[in-house]
Amino acid sequence: MATPIVDAEYLKEIDKARRDLRALISSKNCAPIMLRLAWHDAGTYDVNTKTGGANGSIRNDEELKHSANSGLKIAIDLLEPVKKRHPKITYADLYQLAGVVAVEVTGGPTIEFVPGRKDSKVSPNEGRLPDAKKGVQHLRDIFYRMGLSDKDIVALSGAHTLVTILIIHNHLHLCSMHNVFEFEFVFFFAMQGRAHPERSGFEGAWTSEPLKFDNNYFVELLKGEAEGLLKLPTDKALLDDPEFRKYVELYAKDEDAFFRDYAASHKKLSELGFTPS
Ligand code: HEM
Repeated sequence: MATPIVDAEYLKEIDKARRDLRALISSKNCAPIMLRLAWHDAGTYDVNTKTGGANGSIRNDEELKHSANSGLKIAIDLLEPVKKRHPKITYADLYQLAGVVAVEVTGGPTIEFVPGRKDSKVSPNEGRLPDAKKGVQHLRDIFYRMGLSDKDIVALSGAHTLVTILIIHNHLHLCSMHNVFEFEFVFFFAMQGRAHPERSGFEGAWTSEPLKFDNNYFVELLKGEAEGLLKLPTDKALLDDPEFRKYVELYAKDEDAFFRDYAASHKKLSELGFTPS
């Protein structure tokens, strides 16, 4: 493990923030949007110009307005009280810590988290994140620009397995002279962990096991079209390319391999633009 570049007091705050994040993410069912926030902050990195990356710049109005970031203000606002309780922690660290905790509390792998990221007020131009309507070459162009590999592309796409469900109990009382009927309607709304038409133009969830971080994204992908489940063109692209498909097939049949590679790729993603030692 790299030598921490922060002091002992900062590390203590990170531990406390981690506990706060576990409670927040479990109570608000907001793991997917937290993970997406972490990814969209880090995924702007350009390895050639060394700009963008996990630097908290997604909170700048200018960047938050990028169409890819539609809806992510919810996550930023949810994290603000945690930042207030731990002001020493940078936004850049807080957003990445939230991403790591989101994966852990939903049953995913443990991802090593090294603190010490600096905040930036400089936002990159719009267009650095992937366009879900495109294919293989686009995925490579975008992720190679970050300095990531084919294996990272496939492993990280497995994050789409995560779906959070909000349960709304709605009581309807029907009364008559002789009977009182109580109907309890339980509506399941996939509020998070799914595509939202008002945000991205896509709608639906990737898996039917909504609150669990597992390898089902790959299992469903290999099954082909299934009613009610979402497949973006970029998801399907993972089947079109032999190099990508190799990993899809591996992760669908071997969840341990997926967890191992996901943890390594997520750590890389969370450290784009940041040198831990
Ligand atoms: C959601 C595209 C990679 C995590 C979404 C949505 C789109 C999308 C269109 C739906 C947004 C909405 O309508 O709310 C893509 C594309 C990718 C990609 C084109 C290219 C490979 C990733 C990666 C991660 C990730 C690398 C994390 C490591 C998520 C999560 C959600 C999501 C957790 C659900 C968010 C929520 O429901 O609030 N993605 N994504 N995605 N993405 Fe991706």
